[in-house]
Amino acid sequence: MRGRCSRKLGVLAKAGVLLWVLWLGYILLAGSPFPSSSTVEEDEEGRNVRAKQRSLDEAAADGQLARPLYSKPAPDSNAMGEWGRATHLNLSPEEKKLEQDSVERYAINIYVSDKISLHRHIQDHRMNECRSKKFDYRRLPTTSVIIAFYNEAWSTLLRTIHSVLETTPATLLKEIILIDDYSDRVYLKSQLAQHISEVNRVRLIRTKKREGLVRARLIGATYATGDVLTFLDCHCECVPGWIEPLLERIAENASTIVCPVIDTIDWNTFEFYMQTDEPMIGGFDWRLTFQWHSVPEVERKRRKSRIDPIRSPTMAGGLFAVSKAYFEYLGTYDMGMEVWGGENLELSFRVWMCGGSLEIHPCSHVGHVFPKKAPYARPNFLQNTVRAAEVWMDSYKQHFYNRNPPAKKVRQLQMKPTQVFKQCV
Ligand SMILES: *[C@@H]1O[C@H](CO)[C@@H](O)[C@H](O)[C@H]1NC(C)=O
Repeated sequence: MRGRCSRKLGVLAKAGVLLWVLWLGYILLAGSPFPSSSTVEEDEEGRNVRAKQRSLDEAAADGQLARPLYSKPAPDSNAMGEWGRATHLNLSPEEKKLEQDSVERYAINIYVSDKISLHRHIQDHRMNECRSKKFDYRRLPTTSVIIAFYNEAWSTLLRTIHSVLETTPATLLKEIILIDDYSDRVYLKSQLAQHISEVNRVRLIRTKKREGLVRARLIGATYATGDVLTFLDCHCECVPGWIEPLLERIAENASTIVCPVIDTIDWNTFEFYMQTDEPMIGGFDWRLTFQWHSVPEVERKRRKSRIDPIRSPTMAGGLFAVSKAYFEYLGTYDMGMEVWGGENLELSFRVWMCGGSLEIHPCSHVGHVFPKKAPYARPNFLQNTVRAAEVWMDSYKQHFYNRNPPAKKVRQLQMKPTQVFKQCV
């Protein structure tokens, strides 16, 4: 036992000596001046080259950090819809019929969508300042992207998922959480599960009954492990660089809900219209319907540059990022909101009343297919807006009831005082 130990020590000592000799040799070699033909200028040049190399290395490291989990295939300019171009098809009468059927069924031209790559590129027409802006990827929070859907078409849903995977830096994307809100379309069963199982960082959760958008999203949020929840609709396409400005803003101030600029994807041709001038902000009328407004002068003056976030009274609803902790602090969504409609205003009022703010970031762009018409009725819109008015509007709710007499009936029929909670925790 003892002998073996001392033999081992001997070996170690020899190895130590050898290492020391090697190290000494290295020091001597590295320290020895090169044949000194170099002038002072060349030295300076050398320094410049080294500095350049260093900044290249840093850029490469940044580039590495900005890399998404999957990269898009090389663009194919002949492919339909590539770079967000419109698709126009010459269809036979039979094909035309199929196209019309798809529009009837989804209120979106799915016939066209099916012909466009799930991985198409979108031309980045954002402001130069947005495109050249650098981010400190190591300090940005991570995000979980939450996408709820109900009977969504295959190609629009899958294009949304792949678009997130191919535009969000892998270091920032914790996961995509899909919530199937009790769809009954057959391709959304095992075919979807199979497809998802072949992609990394995507989870599929299914509700056991129809929950509606609000509760489906909240169910998704309970599975999220990222610092920030990013909610998207199920027929979106993200423009590269979309997530960084949202996450950077939340890192600066966690009590901010930040929305991307919502670009329009045409429901018929799938042309991607990037909004290049000043984004619009959200407002509402006294019937509590959401509306777009131009940025008021006072807000224009408050901002220091064109790429500063813009404060917005309300949000459109589908697309926003919020710190998970702050969302919980806010009391999340009003769980009593049914299906969809009105929840966006309720959350907007809530964030402003609870000391936070709501902003639109001009450098973050996400395209959204606005269907030809709302594909599903909003039977609960009135009820939901009554909840929002009762909770947040104090005496101003009188304006709402005056402009919207049916709302008065809803209140009498459906609202019990105990159902309404004012929540800033
Ligand atoms: C964050 O934003 C809120 C709302 O605009 C503001 O009241 C608060 O002072 C900000 N906090 C910081 C740390 O800037």
